[in-house]
Formats: sequence, structure tokens, C-alpha cells
Amino acid sequence: MTRGHYIKQLIQAIEYYRLADRHPDQIEPIVLMAEQGILTDNMAKAELFRIQPLIERQKKVWNSMPAAPNQQELGEFDVPVGELIERPGVTAGIRILDQPRHILVSGATGSGKSSFLRWLIIALATLSARIGKEIIILVLDLKGDFVDLPDRLGRERWRHFSVHDGFRIGLNPPVGFRNTTSWINEITRIIAAHCGLIFSASSLAAILRFVLPHINNPPTSILNWPRLALVLEILRRTPYDLFATRRQYKDALEQRVEFLVENSGSLFDTTHGFDVIKDLVAPPGHCAVIDMTTLSPILVHIVVDIICSQILFWRIYERVIEGPLFCLVIDEADTLCSYRTAALYLENYTSLGRATKQGRQFDIMSILAMTYTGDCSQFITSNTTYHISYNQSDPASALEASRIFHLGDGSRLLGSLQPGECIFKESQGSCSYPMLIRTHYEEPSQSRRPEAFDRSLWVPGKGLLDPEMKPLADALNKRIAEHKATKKRQLPQEQSGPSDLALKLLGLWYEDHLNFVVRLFEKMGKISFSAQKRIVAELEELQLAVFEDLRLSSRTFRIMELLPKAFGLLGKAPIQIRGRGKLRHRFMANRIKWSAETQGKTAYLEWIIPDTTHPADVAVEEGEQFELFEIVMTGTDNVGEGIRACFTHPELIRSLTIVATQKNICKKLKAQVASEMPSFPYLDRVRFETFAQYV
Ligand SMILES: Nc1ncnc2c1ncn2[C@@H]1O[C@H](COP(=O)(O)OP(=O)(O)OP(=O)(O)O)[C@@H](O)[C@H]1O
Ligand SMILES: [Mg+2]
Repeated sequence: MTRGHYIKQLIQAIEYYRLADRHPDQIEPIVLMAEQGILTDNMAKAELFRIQPLIERQKKVWNSMPAAPNQQELGEFDVPVGELIERPGVTAGIRILDQPRHILVSGATGSGKSSFLRWLIIALATLSARIGKEIIILVLDLKGDFVDLPDRLGRERWRHFSVHDGFRIGLNPPVGFRNTTSWINEITRIIAAHCGLIFSASSLAAILRFVLPHINNPPTSILNWPRLALVLEILRRTPYDLFATRRQYKDALEQRVEFLVENSGSLFDTTHGFDVIKDLVAPPGHCAVIDMTTLSPILVHIVVDIICSQILFWRIYERVIEGPLFCLVIDEADTLCSYRTAALYLENYTSLGRATKQGRQFDIMSILAMTYTGDCSQFITSNTTYHISYNQSDPASALEASRIFHLGDGSRLLGSLQPGECIFKESQGSCSYPMLIRTHYEEPSQSRRPEAFDRSLWVPGKGLLDPEMKPLADALNKRIAEHKATKKRQLPQEQSGPSDLALKLLGLWYEDHLNFVVRLFEKMGKISFSAQKRIVAELEELQLAVFEDLRLSSRTFRIMELLPKAFGLLGKAPIQIRGRGKLRHRFMANRIKWSAETQGKTAYLEWIIPDTTHPADVAVEEGEQFELFEIVMTGTDNVGEGIRACFTHPELIRSLTIVATQKNICKKLKAQVASEMPSFPYLDRVRFETFAQYV
């Protein structure tokens, strides 16, 4: 078959711009006619004119996705979600009844996420009623987008709770969950992660282990758990080493629990609060919207993770494989899904992440929506079956979405989507490649916030002075008394003062206060490691000295400083490691100054740079000029500002040395400075060093 000029041009354009993939219903008949030889050159010319807009669109927004499938290829589904844009009339949907599958919705603000979620929740509730299968839907409403749903979907099954009104959540697992040890570990893991605690977590766990038997004697069918305020009371009343190995651990825990108690109103004030079984599964099959609007982010994180652990632990431990489908819906889940939040946990995943990873087998599914996919934990993206991405305008999110859909760089395509248009992909489905769809939606709610909310089932919390808590208060007093007695036996000199060895350490520090504790111990002869530990604990306990750890690249050094009481005991005038900031910082500055002085130079601490308010940590006189030293403790400190201030009078400053504790911090700072101030004229006078030089 010989083809005319326009036919050739037409076929080339269709192939080059992949138009048969993009618009199969429009293009396939043309290709067929050309193949059968019934397309004339004149017809081809007209077609070329007709497909010009399609070519223009591809030129502007390149779309390389495979051809949109037809209905037969897509197969059957449980809930339709929208219509294929490139194959009008063909419907895409999700399958969740054979096994639950997670859904991740992303898109810029105003792209249609919440409207779609509203539609999906209604569709799931309708499906549940239609087929008579229980689907427990729990919506965590962070922005009030779902305020009208309980009324619309029927108050006989739907509850509307608010964390500000009538809803309380305790430290308790769901009723019937019997493994208290693993629950204590889980609840302390959650609180520790979101409060930035590492070593104090075990103190919290120890308190819970101590309290439980005393507030459940005799045991009842529902286990009582201490309210957070009770934990705080116990922390305030007990000596630091009853539940912690170091004073700092107890102080940190007390400070964080105090923050949570003071900022949570009555949210955590219960001995047994909201519980997914008691409040949702048992009634039976209740669904709920929990209003969390304006709740402080740290509390949102803790509440969400407790709920996720409740759902997962109950099902995984009891191996509930045939339970009702549990569907957790969270819009505005950006920070909840972020990898930064996951990194707060030592294991690198949140309870929400874990429920997403492990929940599928146990009939748990999550529907999460977020704007900033660029930050989403890969733990969540890779465990999600349905990816739905609306318009993405920020580059990092567009890139992450392109990666998820295997689109190369799909940022132009993602950026061109109109509200309600999205890229949809079902992993491991009949067509597991991305396709463009226009989703169904339910317009945003116009309802106002209700006057009153439902009350979840909770038992009010109790304090140590409550008559019901008497067994606990007695046990605690007894424990404190026993602890004091044991300590007295261990420290016979406590009344009369520190032990000889402890006193000796104080004296050695007085003579050489810029030395490490380990070196001072060396001067005392052979002191075993455990004896050293005892001496340190003794001095801390008697409030004669404070200790800090200084982590250098090679090892950690302990440093110390005497407290006022110690000087009286030594009969000497008080001395102090001068300067500002923590002991570590002051110690390092003094040591640098001392090192210059041993070379016969004059050095100053906290030297104010002329005409600024900026003090350099150390300044060393070099003839008419100065060499400055700045100490930096972490790689995230911003040093640019300081560097600029130091060179306010460049003629006066010979050089600036940035001293960091560790090599990798030095590296980070160097990179930061190189990227931030590449054209700064005095950069060749800035040096980076580790503190190891001065050890
Ligand atoms: N499928 C759709 N078709 C047409 N318009 C839609 C569609 N979905 C949503 N819209 C419109 O887009 C607007 C914004 O939708 P929505 O509030 O759901 O966005 P969002 O992604 O949740 O935004 P935000 O991140 O700010 O919460 C709504 O007014 C809605 O009418
Ligand atoms: Mg929204």
C-alpha cells in the first residue's frame, strides 16, 4: 500500500505523540482506516487538522502513560471512585471486600482531596448497609471537613466526638487486650517519641508497672490505668532514682508529662477512656467522626498513635482475622505520615505507619490524605495499594508522585490537573499502571460546628489523694521509705558528708577544673569503673557536683563542675567555669583559652566584636590582630550570621576557627557555609576543627 503525504504525516504524528494511547476512542478508528487502505489523503489532511489540539496538548503537557484501559480490562470493583478522563464512560474503582487495601490521596490545596474523601466515606457507609457487611469507619477530623457526616449518615450508627468536649482517651489498651507488658511498652514508646525522650521512656514504663497492681486490686473486668496527671503526681513525689537511673531522665520525663497534662485539658483525664472495641466494635459496628480541630499538634500525634495501636494490637494479638473491616480515615495527615515524624521513633515508624504495614491481614485499612507527599514516609507510600494524586504544585511532591507512578518527570502533567482530576493507580491490580480519572466528589460541608457532641465512654481519672487511690498512695509511701532506707545503708556517710573518695575527687577538680573526670580518677590511683559510678552518683545525690557528657568523635568524656555546697565543704573560695551556656560549652571555651595561654598568648572569653553585640566564644591576641574561636554543638546550628559578625572589622580579625565536637558536624557546617556564602570575601580565613585538638 502506498501512502499519500498527509497519511504518512498523520500516522507519524499519532505514533510520535502517542495519541492512540491518549485518546483511543478518537484515534483508533483513524489508524484502522489507514491500515485497511480506506483513508484518503484528503481525509488524512482533515484529520491532521482535527487532531491539532491533541498534539498541542501533548507538546505542552507530555503524558507518557499507557493507553487508558477499557471497562473489561479494569474488571469489577466494590466502590467506584471516578471516570477515566481519556475513556469517558469507563469507571475506575477500588476493591476492599476480598481484602482491605490502603488508599493514599495527595494533592495541592484546593485540588479536591477532602471532597473526594467525603464522597468515599459516604460510598463505604452505603456499601456496608447494602451488602450487610460491617465496616467500622473512624474519621479523624483535623479541619472540620467532615462535621456534617454523622447526621447525614444516621445517628443510630454514627457518633460524633470532640477532643474538646466529652471525649477522653487514657493510657489503656482496648478492653480484653490482655498483654499489659507489651501495651506498657507501646504506650511509653508513643509518649517518649513525641516528647523527644529516649532514656526516660523506661522510667515511665516502670511507673506504670508499679501502679497497675495497686489500682486494680481487686481486679475488675475493665482494667484501670493511671491518668497522666497521676503519673505526674508520682514523679513529683518520688526521689529521682526510684524510677530513673539518672536525675536528668526523671527531670526530662517530669517536664514533658507536665507539659502534656497542662496542655490537654481533660483529654487524658481518665482511668479508662476511648477504646475502639468498647466504643465502636461492641455497640456493634459503630462509626465515628472525632473532631480534633485546633488540638495542639503534639497531642494530635499522640492521640492518633494511641488509636492506631489500639486497633492493631487488639487484632494482631488476638489474631482477629475475621473481624469487621476497620477503616481509618485521616485527612490533613501530612505531619502524621511524614518521615520526619517516623524518625522520632527509634524504630523509624509511627503507630500509624505500623498499622498501615501490618494491618491489611487483620482487616484494617487506612485512607490518608495529604498535601506534601514529598515528605511522606516511604513506609506508608510503599504499603499503599491505591495512589490517587491530584494537582501537585510543589516540586518535591510532584517528584515523589512521579516516582510512585513511574512517570519519569510527571511534574508538568501533575501541575496541569484541574480540581477533581487525578492520576490513579492500583498496585497489583488488573491494570496496575497509572491512569487519568476525574473522581466523584461531595461538595464541602456548609454546616456549622454542632453545639454539643457525643460523650465517649470513660471513667474519670483519680488523683493520689482520692480515697480509692489509698492502696496506691500507701504502697508508694512504703516504696519511698524502703528506698531511702536502702540508700542510707549504701551511703553510711550521707548524714556526715561525702565519702573520702568523693571528697578527694572534689579536691582534685578544684586544682584542675578543666580536666576530664576520667583523668581526675586516674590521679586517684586504681578506682574500678563501678566505684567511679558510685562516686558520681553520690556527688549528684548530695548535690555537691553536676556532671555532663561531652561526646567527641572518638569517645564520650564526662566533665563536671562543683555546686556551691562543695566549696564550703572543701573550705575554699568558690570557682566557676566561666562563660555562657551549658557546662559542655563553657568547658570547651575555657579549654581553648587555656590551650592558647599555655603557648604564652593572651586570650579572652566572650569577646564582644567591636560595633556588634556578638560575643566570640574565645579571642586570642595575635599582635595587633585577633584569632577568634566559635564553638558549635550541632550540625543544624546556623553559623553564617556569626561568621559575618566576626568579620565586621576584617582588618582586626586574622582568622576564625569553628570548633565542633565531631567530624561529621564539621563536615555539615563546611557544606552549609559553602552553599550559603560562596562569595563571602573572607571565607579563606574561616577554618574548621574538631575539639579533639584540645583534648
Ligand atoms: N471532582 C471534582 N470536580 C469538580 N470540582 C471539584 C471536584 N472535587 C473538588 N472540587 C472542588 O474543588 C474545591 C476544593 O476541594 P477540596 O476542599 O476538596 O480540596 P482539598 O484538596 O481538600 O483542599 P485543602 O488541601 O485546602 O483542604 C471544592 O470547592 C470543590 O467544589
Ligand atoms: Mg481538604
